Amino acid sequence: MSNHPPAQKSWWKEVVVYQVYLRSFLDSNGDGIGDIPGLISKLDYLKDLGIDVIWISPMYKSPQDDNGYDISDYQDVHSQFGSMRDFDQLLIEIHARGMKLIIDLVINHTSDEHAWFVESRQSKESPKRDWYIWRDPKDNREPNNWESIFGGSAWRFDEHTKQYFMHVFSARQPDLNWENLDMREAVYKMIHWWMDKGIDGFRLDAISHMRKEPGLGDMPNPDKLPYVSSFDKHMNVPGILDYVYDLCDKTFNKRDVFTVGEANGVSSADVGQWVGDGRLNMVIQFEYLSLWSSDPQNRIDLAKLKDVFTRWQAALEHQGWNALFVENHDITRVVSKWGDTEKFWRESATAIAAMYFLMQGAPFIYQGQEIGMTNTVFNGFEDFDDVSAKNYFKKRRTENASDAVIIKELAPISRDNARTPMQWSTASQAGFTTGKPWLKVNPNYLQINVEAQDEDPDSVLNFYRRLTRLRRENPVFVYGHFELQLREHAQVLAYTRDNSTSRALVISNLTGRSASCDIGEALMSGANLVLGNMKSLEQTKAETKLELAPYETRVYLR
Ligand code: GLC
Ligand code: CA
Repeated sequence: MSNHPPAQKSWWKEVVVYQVYLRSFLDSNGDGIGDIPGLISKLDYLKDLGIDVIWISPMYKSPQDDNGYDISDYQDVHSQFGSMRDFDQLLIEIHARGMKLIIDLVINHTSDEHAWFVESRQSKESPKRDWYIWRDPKDNREPNNWESIFGGSAWRFDEHTKQYFMHVFSARQPDLNWENLDMREAVYKMIHWWMDKGIDGFRLDAISHMRKEPGLGDMPNPDKLPYVSSFDKHMNVPGILDYVYDLCDKTFNKRDVFTVGEANGVSSADVGQWVGDGRLNMVIQFEYLSLWSSDPQNRIDLAKLKDVFTRWQAALEHQGWNALFVENHDITRVVSKWGDTEKFWRESATAIAAMYFLMQGAPFIYQGQEIGMTNTVFNGFEDFDDVSAKNYFKKRRTENASDAVIIKELAPISRDNARTPMQWSTASQAGFTTGKPWLKVNPNYLQINVEAQDEDPDSVLNFYRRLTRLRRENPVFVYGHFELQLREHAQVLAYTRDNSTSRALVISNLTGRSASCDIGEALMSGANLVLGNMKSLEQTKAETKLELAPYETRVYLR
């Protein structure tokens, strides 16, 4: 059916990945914080969902200033999450179920409590001074006007040696200096240590920030701001690929591990240089995220969405692979953003699911997405945990904004929306903990939880189970060529997947209004409906003119 040469086969192209945000997944000992033993107790649940690879957020030793993305010891486990023995047990249990484990690798920065930084800070002559980015003050203030991604200056003054160090993220996350070869060697050694342990791969945190523009010059500042957003100076800066290739050559390329880089600022035009043979396997791209923030009133910008997805599908078909995702721990819940949390909650959660999941690439499911979890409710400053939210709060307070206004601004965008505890059941605290959870449970857990959906054939959860099965049983969903259909349709996102023997057609109405479309004889003849999210239509024969209910999705196969 397709004249396109098939994509090359690899085990990591066939997987479905599940992201576990450990501290919010399941608490086994009542301290209110999710942990490794909690995850172990739910591995059968993940296996049953059809998961192949589990990615866990950082479980390393850490002061938890940025929930573990501030690592103070790369070779130890944070005691709140368990011990290294628990970790080893997790790996054994995951492998015993035929699944794989990847861990978050945070090497753009460390914690300020990491031994390397402690030593670096000691004196200007410290052998590790140059492992971080230190500069003298300029005119009695910061060396430049760069703003941290989490707010405020990207520099912090250190009294002890009277110099500033750079932190692109929080002030407790000093950036490593990737120009320093000794530092790199130490990081590579650490990576080998984990590979020797038998882990199956890495999600590379903030990898596109490792290089800073040489000279560290000021950002243009026509508005005379105290600090200026400085992504251009430290994100996908020319020369970064030398670091990435060196890293791959000296570590991952020596083994058969899976790598996915978090690559803010890498476009569909650049990505071919980041992924492929001997490079990263895939990247987490940020172009979707610009769709997140484009217009808070308008739920979805379908034309842009089609454009972004199609470009990335084409760019990666024969080089590397797509990481398909609609949620993670840094963005809000997709049903709240692109769907409808009220009248069409189930329909929109499932339509969005089919829409992204059956494209070419490895689908990622973020914990709770598979039950249609939504954004939460914030009543005051104390309901926020995220360091970037707190920084924002403080800054807006100094500008005399009222708390009510600040909450209104933060609620639809806060990362805490995705970090509320996993909703397992109607038990107290959604069955997440017997104690007091570190972040408030979303009050809708009585309606939205795993227990309620487990046996319900029409639930969001069972829809995801059917999706993973469909993909596993039909290679066309893995390797088939992607082509967008009905490009101009204002409500429907449709595409085909083709290989030499089959064709799949995925059609989703992404609006709360019914939609008509004409698919055309050529695409429809001989096709059978294999998945849908409307009970009554399950038996429908393929027709060329379709009337789709609000947020209806259908998948045909022949
Ligand atoms: C990545 C992580 C995010 C973290 C940041 C700094 O963007 O996904 O959670 O805050 O890096 O490590
Ligand atoms: Ca715990």
